[in-house]
Amino acid sequence: MRAAPSVPTIETPRLILRGWRDADVESWVGMNAHPRVTEFLGQSFTRDAAVSRAAVIRAELERNGYGWWVVEIKDGRRFAGAIVLREVPFEAHFTPAHEIGWRLAFEHWGHGYATEGAAAVLDFAFTRLGWSEVVAFTAEVNLRSRRVMERLGMTRDLAGDFEHPAFAPGHRLCRHVLYRARSNR
Ligand SMILES: CC(C)(COP(=O)(O)OP(=O)(O)OC[C@H]1O[C@@H](n2cnc3c(N)ncnc32)[C@H](O)[C@@H]1OP(=O)(O)O)[C@@H](O)C(=O)NCCC(=O)NCCS
Repeated sequence: MRAAPSVPTIETPRLILRGWRDADVESWVGMNAHPRVTEFLGQSFTRDAAVSRAAVIRAELERNGYGWWVVEIKDGRRFAGAIVLREVPFEAHFTPAHEIGWRLAFEHWGHGYATEGAAAVLDFAFTRLGWSEVVAFTAEVNLRSRRVMERLGMTRDLAGDFEHPAFAPGHRLCRHVLYRARSNR
C-alpha cells in the first residue's frame, strides 16, 4: 500500500521522511525489540504492542499531516527509524508545547541521520506549520539523545529539568532535561 497522499514528505541530502507503508511495520517491530533502542525509553515493546502502536501513529500522521514520520535512507531505500513532531502528551511546567523526538534502528546509529532528519523536521515545524517553539526532552542519562539536541542547536533550559510523570520518583529515568528551539521568523 502506498503512503497516503496527505502526508507531507520531507527530504534531506541522505534521507526521505515519509508516510508509512505496510512493510515498515516489521522494521518498526525489529527496531523496538532492540535493547539498546529501548534502554532509555522506560518500556520494552512486545511484538503486539509495537504493531498496535505503529497503527496508531500511522493514522495520526495521515490525519494531522505531522506526527511520526518514517525515516528512509535514500541509498538502498532502507528503513532507518522514525522522527516525530507532536503535542507533548502529558502535563508539565512547560506544557502545552510541541515536541520533537527521534528513534533510530541500532544499526543506523552513528551516521548523523537523526540530526539530519530532525533539522529538516524542525524547519518544517517552523516554516510549514508556523509553530514558534519546539521542545525536546529526554532522560538526563540519555546522552546520545541530548547530543542530538545540542547538534541541532537547541538550547538547554537550565531551569527546565523535570520529573517525567511516566516514571516513579527516584526511578533512574525519571529526571528529564528540557531543550528548546525557537523559530527565527
Ligand atoms: C538518540 C539517537 C536517535 C541518536 O542517534 P545517533 O546516531 O547517535 O545520532 P545522530 O544521527 O545525530 O548521529 C551522530 C553520530 O553520528 C556520527 N556521524 C557520522 N557521520 C556523520 C555525519 N555525516 N553527520 C553528523 N554526524 C555523523 C557523529 O560523530 C555521531 O557519533 P558519536 O555520537 O559517536 O560521536 C539514537 O541513539 C536512538 O535511536 N536511541 C534510542 C531511542 C532514544 O533514546 N530516543 C530518544 C528518546 S527521548
